[in-house]
Amino acid sequence: MSGPSSYKPQSAAAKWFDDRLPIARLVHDSFIAFPTPRNLNYLWTFGGILTFFLVAQIVTGVILAMHYVPNETMAFDSVQHIKRDVNYGWLIQPLHAVGASFFFLAVYLHIFRGIYYGSYKAPREVLWILGVFIFLAMMATGFLGYTLPWGQMSFWGATVITNLFSSLDGVIPGLGTAIVTWLWGGFSVGNATLNRFFSLHYLLPFVIFGLVILHVWALHVAGQNNPTGLDIKQDSDAVPMSPYAVSKDVFAMVAFLIPFAYFVFFMPDWLGHADNYIEANPLSTPPHIVPEWYFLPFYAILRAIPSKLGGVVAMVSAILILLVIPWLDTSRVRSCKYRPIFKWCFWAFVFTCLALGYLGAMPAEQPYIFWAQVFTFLYFAFFLIAMPIVGIIETPSRLPRSITESVLGKNGGGSSLPAGAASAPEKR
Ligand code: HEM
Repeated sequence: MSGPSSYKPQSAAAKWFDDRLPIARLVHDSFIAFPTPRNLNYLWTFGGILTFFLVAQIVTGVILAMHYVPNETMAFDSVQHIKRDVNYGWLIQPLHAVGASFFFLAVYLHIFRGIYYGSYKAPREVLWILGVFIFLAMMATGFLGYTLPWGQMSFWGATVITNLFSSLDGVIPGLGTAIVTWLWGGFSVGNATLNRFFSLHYLLPFVIFGLVILHVWALHVAGQNNPTGLDIKQDSDAVPMSPYAVSKDVFAMVAFLIPFAYFVFFMPDWLGHADNYIEANPLSTPPHIVPEWYFLPFYAILRAIPSKLGGVVAMVSAILILLVIPWLDTSRVRSCKYRPIFKWCFWAFVFTCLALGYLGAMPAEQPYIFWAQVFTFLYFAFFLIAMPIVGIIETPSRLPRSITESVLGKNGGGSSLPAGAASAPEKR
């Protein structure tokens, strides 16, 4: 997507600077003149929303860190101090905590959008894989951050999740226990653990930031996908990113911020767990340890498998399998809009993820375990059975000849390419 630059410096100084560091040219070509498919719907606004939330999390996090104390005797009280005494702490703390939830909500919508419209397919595999790395780094950051308030759920959640490494004892005796002790910096979750978790929780968002730069770079090389899954083939298929896509992004962001503000101002604790308002107590295990809502589907998969090592392998595979979906999906057509069978598989997959989320929040007992096993099977069946097989047996519905035709109808499309040539992955 990197054509000749249309940037024209507006003054002698701008030209002088551009000859030495063409950063204004880079911004102009990447975010103003960049050709954007004319048919993008609101699901394409979540990338911008995610960028906003990443920056907001870093800004609010840096302010919180000025008052937070990463010490096991003071961490819980320091969060209370932030909420009660620090200027605007009552606002900044929920902006960060509720922000994490909305960040995950946005990333899940972004990922499901990618799956529905086949945005992971050629030539966007690297863009997708970078996305999966971002997702992994987000999960690590979310988990580490949840430990910091040092409430009961923080402490016991950290204990349960770090203990998962002990399952490696089943592979090499002693290895898992050694890793857990090393992670903890002692023989239980304690002050050393809290210190390193704080340090890594501060570091990882900057790693995510770096990954996002690569992600957006890869996006600018491949160009944006769109609801038809067709490539841009003629000038009328695209519009300049600014003002068209940018104004849509801003509108969607404001709309997304309304429910976010509602949570921050009216129910800031609603997404958290009541037990996390009790200070961590290593002598009292909560009857029911659950992670934040955005980890629940993976938690359900973890508990669905009767063996500890098996559960860990299933949970890790449930995330890592995303890395290979560009090669699991055999369809020549990207968008589910034109995939009559796979479309239903997609919606069954969405239902499966929601069901796993529900089951992850339930106690680890029957009948929940049975259903978690059923939905774990369906989760993997989507990737390992539906993706390869449906792509082969399904007859896609007729594709429009061009993006323009999909918007303006047959008379609007100026392309003379045959319909079959319009789906791009055949270029592979
Ligand atoms: C901090 C998290 C993330 C940020 C800031 C981010 C940012 C962006 C932006 C700005 C775009 C272009 C606008 C759009 O299509 O919405 C984009 C596109 C994309 N992202 Fe992300 N992203 C993030 C996470 C992810 C994750 C976790 C995945 C997948 C696992 C992913 C996969 C994709 C794909 C496939 C596209 C291309 C979509 C298309 O053109 O159809 N992203 N991302």
